[in-house]
Amino acid sequence: MPSDVNSGLEGVVAAETTISLVDGQAGRLLYRGYEIGDLAAHGSYDRVVGLLLDGEWPLRDEVLPPAELSPTVLAALRGLPTSCAPLDALRTAFSAFGAERRMDWPPTAAQARELIALGPAAVGAFARLRDNKQPVNSAESEHLGAAARLLHAITGEEPDPAKARALDAYFTVCAEHGLNASTFTARVITSTQSDLASAVCGAVGALKGRLHGGAPSEVRDQLTQIGDVEHAEVWIREALARGERLMGFGHRVYKTMDPRAAALRQVAERLAADADWLQLAIDVEDVALRLLAEHKPDRPLKTNVEYYASIVLDGVGLLTDLYTPAFAVARTAGWTAHALEQADHGRLIRPDSRYVGPEQRPLPAGV
Ligand code: ACO
Repeated sequence: MPSDVNSGLEGVVAAETTISLVDGQAGRLLYRGYEIGDLAAHGSYDRVVGLLLDGEWPLRDEVLPPAELSPTVLAALRGLPTSCAPLDALRTAFSAFGAERRMDWPPTAAQARELIALGPAAVGAFARLRDNKQPVNSAESEHLGAAARLLHAITGEEPDPAKARALDAYFTVCAEHGLNASTFTARVITSTQSDLASAVCGAVGALKGRLHGGAPSEVRDQLTQIGDVEHAEVWIREALARGERLMGFGHRVYKTMDPRAAALRQVAERLAADADWLQLAIDVEDVALRLLAEHKPDRPLKTNVEYYASIVLDGVGLLTDLYTPAFAVARTAGWTAHALEQADHGRLIRPDSRYVGPEQRPLPAGV
């Protein structure tokens, strides 16, 4: 790749935003000025949604509107193979909802709230349908916040308050994160004056990959394979020697510990769902950080959000294939907030490429 082509767009500023500050050098994350650790400890996800969409901390306790899945959305979910990835089911639900609802340009905060509220209901419905169970009636969970609604939509039961609180903190921590790949995707789609549901569908697709939102289930696999901290050094050295990446470490922007990882470690400690599993994660993290520093002395590779996200999501009882859908449901807040901002004062996003293919030439003889 020629040195003047920045194929990862690293360091390129493509938007001005008032939504969040991602300070990679200091390891700081602020949502509209409020620090992520404070929001996770003292806020609630539903109020964070208000902050992100409307710009100020809501004065009253906000709970998202109820999301009754329409027959169209339910039919789309029922039509999927039960073996399909729940994240694909979520993307399908957003798509069916958008097709039915016809979300016209420009996007609005009310549309955003509908999409954010749809997520828990859709993921829960698919999780039940694939187990041959009927989706729950979402009217039963109207009193709950979005994170607790996800637990209710999966189990059909009133969630345990400690688990609901832990998942709410996880949702808060994952609600927004600057111009990451999925948010950029949402902004690109919005910049064409396409609708908000399409922006969210595209963002889900971008989040799916293991370099972005697909990592936490792999963090769990990694810890399962290591099994005991005694094996960590050999296991990690061998993985790095094979050229593999350690899941839950490294970040494009953070040059120090991801502040979301620090916040989620505290959430995991408070939840204390499985003390041995958490201790294994903490011990393996120490070994991994030491070996990553040896492996890439010039590139800080620190713990990222996905590492302790995996412990929290496991602790609240989610199956591993629901980890990334939970992330997507939470991040719908950030995607839609950015789409609103983009629609408000952004331009069509359209970078250039440099053509390095063959010169103009005739078709092969005989064509
Ligand atoms: N383990 C081992 N080596 C790593 C890791 C890692 N976790 N992360 C980066 N490196 C190495 C790469 O192999 C590369 O080495 P090279 O220069 O010899 O080829 C070098 O560091 C730079 O890697 P890039 O991919 O260019 O760096 P980038 O900034 O694009 O990477 C990323 C960021 C994708 C998150 C990376 O650190 C990674 O793959 N981490 C593991 C997956 C992960 O945890 N994903 C979740 C990210 S958080 C989120 O998106 C919500």
